[in-house]
Amino acid sequence: MILQRRNRILRANPAIRAMVAENVLQPADFIAPLFIDEGENVAFEIPSMQGYFRRSIDGTITEVKELWAMGIKSVLIFIKAPDELKDNTGKEAWNPDGLMQRAVKAIKNAVPGMVVMTDVALDPYSSYGHDGIVENAEIINDGTVEALVKMSLSHAEAGADFVAPSDMMDGRIGAIRNAFEQHGYTRTGIMAYSAKYASCFYGPFRDALDSAPGFGDKKTYQMDYANRIEAIKETQLDIEEGADIVMVKPAMAYLDIIREIKNSVTVPVSAYHVSGEYAMIKAAAKMGWLNEEKAIIESLTSIKRAGADLIATYFAKDAVRILQG
Ligand code: PBG
Repeated sequence: MILQRRNRILRANPAIRAMVAENVLQPADFIAPLFIDEGENVAFEIPSMQGYFRRSIDGTITEVKELWAMGIKSVLIFIKAPDELKDNTGKEAWNPDGLMQRAVKAIKNAVPGMVVMTDVALDPYSSYGHDGIVENAEIINDGTVEALVKMSLSHAEAGADFVAPSDMMDGRIGAIRNAFEQHGYTRTGIMAYSAKYASCFYGPFRDALDSAPGFGDKKTYQMDYANRIEAIKETQLDIEEGADIVMVKPAMAYLDIIREIKNSVTVPVSAYHVSGEYAMIKAAAKMGWLNEEKAIIESLTSIKRAGADLIATYFAKDAVRILQG
């Protein structure tokens, strides 16, 4: 054959492939989610997330130091509240001495450079396991936003660099931004879960925090996975209301959404490679059906290729270890 172009030339060996790779993962791409529990020296492996632990603050600090030493710049923290602190107001969420607030202070104190992001939603504190206040079996919007504002202010007060509202109530980004302005928190950022879908892939996370909804599902606030244009609407509104970073969640079944958002906004886009996505790789690898390391790197690279500037992933540490050979 006489060919004008032989595309395989650029795939001939690892050196050439590295030279022309369009996307390369690096430690600063990752946000490491951390599950935090009360107690001392406690590490509880989450059954549906093998190799991932919920730790007390002391063990969390050790973990954060390790992540920082590996070049990971950010953690996203979630807490597990004991049942006796859960109610329908979620008021433990803004207790200045609550587990979240203590954890933020401890992490910032131990590793001041680490960018600490906090989950803002009522579900770990809700006796109903919902992200908002329940009235007549409905998750009410405006009353919930008031609670989320108090929660966000208490995280800012504790020293969080970013709050990350994951609740999908209407108007919460604007309300939180206004409250930050009014209270002088002009350096606290907002990473909005803008396009958060009602997904079965959150199952293992709800095991981790004992936060599964006690009745119904989350479809009246999280988005319908049949929809694409709605993701743009949600994201644009969050940006108008003051979001610094927007997020798409989950990631791998939503790569089209990540790309669409990346093409339509000028703020950084993050994607959350969620608990169920972690569990799928872990389970298949355990069965010997997938090469775990290759599955991790291919998955995360595909999320970056789709347009994610940042990836929240339970594989953050594994990925850095694999990338560094
Ligand atoms: C709570 C929240 C959830 C996740 C992050 N924040 C669960 C949910 O919405 O039910 C899921 C994360 C994961 O599955 O890894 N608002």
